[in-house]
Amino acid sequence: MTAANGTGAALGDEIVERIDQLAAISERAGEITRVFLSAEHRAAAELILSWMQDAGMTAHMDAIGNVIGRYEGNTPRLPALLLGSHFDTVRNAGKWDGPLGVVTAIACVNALNGQSKRLPFAIEVAAFADEEGVRFASTLIGSRAVAGSFDEGVLATMDRNGTSLRQAMREFGLDPQHVGTAARAPSEFLAYLELHIEQGPVLEAEDLPLGVVTAISGATRLSVSLEGMAGHAGTVPMAMRRDALAGAAECIVAIERQCRDDIGLFGTVGSIHADPGATNVIPGRCSFTVDMRCASDQHRRLAVAAAVRSIEQVAKTRGLHPQVDVTYESRSVRCADWLQGRISEAMARQGFRTIALPSGAGHDGLAIAELTDIGMIFVRCRGGVSHHPDEHVAAADIGAGARVLLDLIEHFEPKPRR
Ligand code: GLV
Ligand code: MN
Ligand code: MN
Repeated sequence: MTAANGTGAALGDEIVERIDQLAAISERAGEITRVFLSAEHRAAAELILSWMQDAGMTAHMDAIGNVIGRYEGNTPRLPALLLGSHFDTVRNAGKWDGPLGVVTAIACVNALNGQSKRLPFAIEVAAFADEEGVRFASTLIGSRAVAGSFDEGVLATMDRNGTSLRQAMREFGLDPQHVGTAARAPSEFLAYLELHIEQGPVLEAEDLPLGVVTAISGATRLSVSLEGMAGHAGTVPMAMRRDALAGAAECIVAIERQCRDDIGLFGTVGSIHADPGATNVIPGRCSFTVDMRCASDQHRRLAVAAAVRSIEQVAKTRGLHPQVDVTYESRSVRCADWLQGRISEAMARQGFRTIALPSGAGHDGLAIAELTDIGMIFVRCRGGVSHHPDEHVAAADIGAGARVLLDLIEHFEPKPRR
């Protein structure tokens, strides 16, 4: 099967079928929730591993729970073109964010294997186990382990049930002391390519199925906790309260206002928890997360500092004790110019007009850029909707993405030496 012979539709059908199989692996029936180090992580990993083997790859689960497949080149142990994306999801997710890149990469290798075609380089497919960072406060845990930038401090962070990452790894059957063995060397790779849904409206507005990504925005995640005083809801006068939840509400609105008034800045409080959490008790403690993003790292850093100052100001006015921790930080990463060029050429060969666009969403490439040059293909999604069950990609666009990725692989040449 070659990229140019119009078999994108067949490739697309197989991809949709597998996306549906992965979507059925969920912590709750009727929605898609698949978080790091869960039973669903295990089940999805086993399925992906079997698809990799069926496509002619050797495959294994690495020390952090990623699934890595390898298709040798025309001689063994050649450096590899790394393809991939993630297979964890947000809670009540759509089915395309992450899995589309994993399944399409495997379908491309399967197409090569079907013709017994070997290339002058190896291909590896990485299915990353934690990109979303839903369970623990950090994110990109899977790809950071591969890039060798896993932060050991994250092992102590707790999920919402009080299980630490260290403990969760043990329960899953992984050894937290051996995460380092998942790390790979830059010399093992030629480049990293990821196909992902756009998660925004630009391609749809341009009436284009595909785009070339120029850069991935940086992000900061904060964990904030406000300590006040719990008390009786019917007896403590309103003026004498130190209500941690009311304080958090004021902080949240301040952050929303700040980001609304500042073009290019995105700020979200996506999770909040109040203690003790009873109707008739004044909340004595409240913790919440903050996610701030911007294409400019300098702009983001200044904005985070301003948000922290407003949290501290609200806490002071209300007699609350604030604690603010940075749980994750990534700088903006540029997709390599030479890979943007290769992707544009593959799109042109396959008959698609190209546009270049930045990614406001985070991707595994943020971590993998420390290991090798990265390039990304965006596929149009309906209405730009993502992180929502209504996420949808048209079959024709899936076929278009698969054709371009396969063409890119078949014509791939390493970075030119200067
Ligand atoms: C991942 O989807 C992120 O951008 O947070
Ligand atoms: Mn994603
Ligand atoms: Mn996502």
